[in-house]
Amino acid sequence: MKYFLDSAKLDEIKKAYELYGFDGVTTNPKHIKNSGKTFESCIEGIADYVKDKPNFPVSVEINPHLADVQSMVEMARRISSLSANFVIKIPTNTVGIVAGRQLEKEGIQTNMTLVFSAAQAIMAGKLGAKYVSPFIGWKEDHGDDGVKYIKDIVDIYRKYDFKTEIIVAAVRNSQQIEKAALFGADIVTCGLAVYENSFNNPYTDLGLKIFKSAWDNTKKEGE
Ligand code: E4P
Repeated sequence: MKYFLDSAKLDEIKKAYELYGFDGVTTNPKHIKNSGKTFESCIEGIADYVKDKPNFPVSVEINPHLADVQSMVEMARRISSLSANFVIKIPTNTVGIVAGRQLEKEGIQTNMTLVFSAAQAIMAGKLGAKYVSPFIGWKEDHGDDGVKYIKDIVDIYRKYDFKTEIIVAAVRNSQQIEKAALFGADIVTCGLAVYENSFNNPYTDLGLKIFKSAWDNTKKEGE
């Protein structure tokens, strides 16, 4: 399962790529705002960093105010022209589905985002999106069964052999990473803190404490 970093901060993106060997990046308007930069300078900075990293896709979302197919497609074309790594995030609703279908036909890869039902995910698969992004975290934040909906999407995609890759998004904890892997999702995306938390375990710390004490009390040369 691939690990994508959910962030638009260049220092975090560099860390994810250079230290941890992550596989890609997803951004959204919240992450761009949190970068403290303008939309243009933020994505141009990312485009520059990834220009020699062909297997490191970066999802960039169009202006969420756009509500007609033509303006969505035009903005997607503009963003896409900045980097071969850019995949365009399009909201999964009636206009977004039409725009996404047109973009994929033009050879512009899309990430159909804000997916909260298996029915929406089916349409992302049918239009030939590169990625589909169901948001497990937002579902569970609102008391819905996030695990079942991810499992249903994976099962449906495998049953019908959809080629669209499933990004389990808005992941909040290790358990959600594990469930995504167990069900056979292609990718998870979450913030650096969630990943770094998942690298650790209190038992690992306890084990280290035990081993340090054993190390310190091991008979030394000359004793
Ligand atoms: C997915 O592609 C989104 O960018 C993301 O996961 C949104 O979740 P957040 O609430 O963790 O930012």
